[in-house]
Amino acid sequence: MSTKSQFGSKIGLIAATVGSAIGLGNVWRFPAETQANGGAAFLLLYIACVFVLGVPVMLAEFSLGRGGRSDAVGVFKKLSPGKWWWIVGAVAILASYLILSYYMVVAGWTAEYLWQSITGNLYDAVHNSDIAASDAAFASRMNQYICSDTAPLLFTYAVIIINIIVLLGGVQKGIERLSNIMMPLLFVLLLALCAVTLSLPGAGEGLKFFLSPDFSKIDAGTVVNALGQTFFSLSLGMGILITYSSYYPSDTRLTRTSVIVSLMSLLVAVMMGCIIFPAVTTFGLDRHPLEGATLVFVTLPEVFAQLPASQLWSTIFFLLLFVAALTSTVSIAEVSIAFMQDRFKMTRLKSCMIVMLPLFALSAVCSLSFGSLESLKVFGMTIFDSLDAFTTNILLPLVSMGVCVYVGWFAPDGLLRKQITNDGQIRSRITSAVYLIIRYVAPLMIAAIMVSKLV
Ligand code: PHE
Repeated sequence: MSTKSQFGSKIGLIAATVGSAIGLGNVWRFPAETQANGGAAFLLLYIACVFVLGVPVMLAEFSLGRGGRSDAVGVFKKLSPGKWWWIVGAVAILASYLILSYYMVVAGWTAEYLWQSITGNLYDAVHNSDIAASDAAFASRMNQYICSDTAPLLFTYAVIIINIIVLLGGVQKGIERLSNIMMPLLFVLLLALCAVTLSLPGAGEGLKFFLSPDFSKIDAGTVVNALGQTFFSLSLGMGILITYSSYYPSDTRLTRTSVIVSLMSLLVAVMMGCIIFPAVTTFGLDRHPLEGATLVFVTLPEVFAQLPASQLWSTIFFLLLFVAALTSTVSIAEVSIAFMQDRFKMTRLKSCMIVMLPLFALSAVCSLSFGSLESLKVFGMTIFDSLDAFTTNILLPLVSMGVCVYVGWFAPDGLLRKQITNDGQIRSRITSAVYLIIRYVAPLMIAAIMVSKLV
């Protein structure tokens, strides 16, 4: 036993990593951020951040994972025994587990909306062409589907169970197989929705907002938001990429992989923009802010209600959302499972259970924080919101900072260089640039994000 698991094929490892990266960050956070930050100029800034910072930081995580071939704590213990760097990995595991507990709930909502679309309940009694009336109808549906106690909880449990089934299958037969099916499906669904929204009468106007930049909209706040979006949407700072890359074979080309993953994640974000902006301008829904949850659970159902075959488009959209969320939950759960397996030499079954079963309680608390537990506040926020704020504003930047400082300055000699060049077997022209970014640029930018979030 205890030879480390590996992905079985190149396509599979890319599908799994892309599956992790593509999540609610691309599908709902990106359009909302783009709208709030002035449209196309934000898109350009985001693209720049992905390549200038995202790819190098991703390479740093990859070199830790494949160089150390262990879980997020184990890589630091192996590479720098007797030092305290493993704490960076421990914070990553803590962050990933907390995120997992509330992300499961959101994944549960996507499952619930998928179900309500399939059964037609979502559109029952909303055949109203009056936008104000249908706005109210879908807002009250959201209230009913998300803020009641029982139904959201049951759907969250269903998603936890699906996760357990996949994760029990292990790296190749579980995660890789799921991703190989889900990722092509995701792109087909996206293309279908793009075809519909791009043929709407207001498509041109919507695309103009999304694609023709107004640089006067860029200020320090926009830059910080683009940076935050980059880290979240590429799954950086969560220990996921360290864990997944520990399953990469030694001939995997890390630079190529990181560029492909970033491009795919970007492509999905851009396609989502091409779906959402034409749709909301066509129906005059772009006047109110497209905030995350309302955007996908109120605004888009309203759009679908205006189209022929509402139920079909709605089903396709929520299936897309569900697929995106599922491959992300699996990846973030794997961080803790790998930790249990590697650190405590547990079997897959035992580590899966120890990681997943407590979620039935933890995620329940997060889910109920929209219902019965709404009045329970931590720092003035619901439990759900406080977990989200604590992890994304504090823990994730801390981990990314730790990874950059470690790989840039303290890792065993030339770790990054060796990993990027597969131990000197392939040439790389970007190594020095990556070092420069990891050592100086990225830590400064991450510090800027933290300071601005805390102030
Ligand atoms: N990149 C993911 C997303 O966009 C981030 C994430 C991964 C979040 C896994 C939670 C779990 O949603």
